Amino acid sequence: QHLLAFARRQPLNPQVCRVDRVIAESEALLRRAVGEVLPLKLSLGSGTRTALIDSGQFEAALLNLVVNARDASPPGGTIVVESGPETLAKTRGELKPGAYLRVAVCDEGAGMDAATIARAFEPFFTTKASGKGTGLGLSQVYGFVRQSGGEVEIASKPGKGTTVSMLLPASHEGAILQDAPVAAPAPRPGVEVLLAEDDSEVGDLVEAMLTELGHHVRRAGDADEALSVARAHPELGLLVTDVMMPGDKSGVDLASILSAERPDLPILLSSGYTGQELAQARATPWPLLRKPYALDALIRAIDQAFEARRMH
Ligand SMILES: Nc1ncnc2c1ncn2[C@@H]1O[C@H](COP(=O)(O)OP(=O)(O)OP(=O)(O)O)[C@@H](O)[C@H]1O
Ligand SMILES: [Mg+2]
Repeated sequence: QHLLAFARRQPLNPQVCRVDRVIAESEALLRRAVGEVLPLKLSLGSGTRTALIDSGQFEAALLNLVVNARDASPPGGTIVVESGPETLAKTRGELKPGAYLRVAVCDEGAGMDAATIARAFEPFFTTKASGKGTGLGLSQVYGFVRQSGGEVEIASKPGKGTTVSMLLPASHEGAILQDAPVAAPAPRPGVEVLLAEDDSEVGDLVEAMLTELGHHVRRAGDADEALSVARAHPELGLLVTDVMMPGDKSGVDLASILSAERPDLPILLSSGYTGQELAQARATPWPLLRKPYALDALIRAIDQAFEARRMH
């Protein structure tokens, strides 16, 4: 049975994926699995939001959930695959507060009692007749979601149907960080950061995030000001610069000048623009954060800035 292969714990190959696109691309496969007797509806609300996931494993998980829903459903019972954003304001279970994408499969089937829910994720736990189920479907779902930094939730009552939700950490538009680690990196000790940003509101926000991470921030509104701050403060340990700034030097120019003067300085570019400026920024050796970004993307990007410095 091919589902079995999915259950083996495979190394994940996470990529930034548009979750709704992956679901839409799986639609034919899911319909084939469900058959013609049961209506399958997609209700996709994640838009262009992305998550850092292994799309093959995600598709396998979705298929496992849909097959479970099919097996539990009475004739004509509707199965719905839905997705949408969800913000956790507080810690929930293993999940930190933050932005998540919920991908759920709902059915109107037999439901599960508490004892079944409690054991459902166990490998080889099945209530199906021998030869019908191997009990590995939900354990694959669980393994995939947990390895992706998320959590699986089951809402079910006997006779009332079942909803199994995968909560996956949303990756922030911005992060062009395809190879970013799934696990949160270890916190970095505070450093002196030079933040070059001409938009004072954006600057305030980024300064607040950097401060929250334990860094001390000096601000500059353009490249020339940033250069004089940098030259006056040899203790600076990181430059975070906007790419587009007023004056005759861009953030990339600033980064080039400073890295020539101080080859050890970690540098992080950020940009809200698309197009030419972005292409230019991408051609540099420095990591680029796309604005707007959130704290976890910033943490990863800072790590990349330190990594990039170590490599040359
Ligand atoms: N949508 C659902 N409705 C009712 N019960 C469910 C549902 N999903 C899972 N279960 C229960 O959880 C058990 C474990 O599910 P799991 O997908 O891990 O294994 P399986 O479906 O029995 O076998 P396999 O997926 O390997 O073919 C099922 O046997 C069933 O009792
Ligand atoms: Mg199953």
